[in-house]
Amino acid sequence: MAELVVALDVPSAREALDLADRLRGLRWAKIGPALLVREGSAVVRELAARGVRVFLDLKWHDIPSTVAHAVTAARELGVALATVHCLGGRAMLEAAVAAAGDLPLVGVTVLTAHDAGGFEQVVGRGVPDLGFEAERLGRMACAAGLRGVVASGAELAILREALGPDPWIVVPGIRLPGEPTGDQARTVSADEAVRRGATHLVVGRPIIAARDPVAAFRRLVEAV
Ligand code: C5P
Repeated sequence: MAELVVALDVPSAREALDLADRLRGLRWAKIGPALLVREGSAVVRELAARGVRVFLDLKWHDIPSTVAHAVTAARELGVALATVHCLGGRAMLEAAVAAAGDLPLVGVTVLTAHDAGGFEQVVGRGVPDLGFEAERLGRMACAAGLRGVVASGAELAILREALGPDPWIVVPGIRLPGEPTGDQARTVSADEAVRRGATHLVVGRPIIAARDPVAAFRRLVEAV
C-alpha cells in the first residue's frame, strides 16, 4: 500500500482546485514551482482547507541558511511534505532538517529526467550506474535526518535494500507500458513501483492530461 500523490502541474489555481474537487478521495497533491510562482501560497492554503495534504516540490538546492529559511516558511504555511535536492550537500540537508520540526522532508537523488549521460554532464565524471549514484545520495539524505528520498522506479529496489524499511521513497515517472513518457527517462508502472517498495507515487500527466482524469485517477488509486 502506497500513497498516490497527484502532481497538479496545471497553469492556474482555479484549474488546480477544480481538478482537486473532481478527484474524490484525493489525499495528496503536489505543487511545483510554476503554479506557486504564478499563484502564490494561497493555492496551498486552499488545498489544505479541503483536507488535501500538500507536497511542496521546489527541490531546494542553495546555501544552508537560505534552504533552512525556505523550510521554515513551508512548515509555517502548513505543507505536509517538501523536497530538497541531495546535490546541495550534507550541510544543507542538515540545516533543512534542523528547520523542519515535524515537517517531513525528502531528498531528490537523481532526477527521473536524467539518464546516465545527462548525469555525467552534471557531475563531470563517468557514471556507469545511476543506481549507485542514487544509493550514495540516498544514504547521505538519511544520515542527515531526512524522512526519505525521491527516486525513479529504476533505482527503487536498490534504494529499499540500502536504506532499509523505514525511509519514505517517493517515486515520480509513473507510466503504464506504452503510455507517453514526455521528458521522463526512467519510468515504471504503478504496480511495479509499489512492488519494489515505493511509499508515495507521484503522477502528473497520466492523470491531468488524460481524456478522463477522474477515471485515470481511480485506476491509479486501485493500483496503489
Ligand atoms: O507528469 P509526470 O507524471 O511526469 O509528473 C511527474 C512530476 O514529478 C512532475 O511534477 C515533476 O516535477 C516531478 N518530479 C520528477 N522527478 C523528480 C522529482 C519530481 O518528475 N526526481
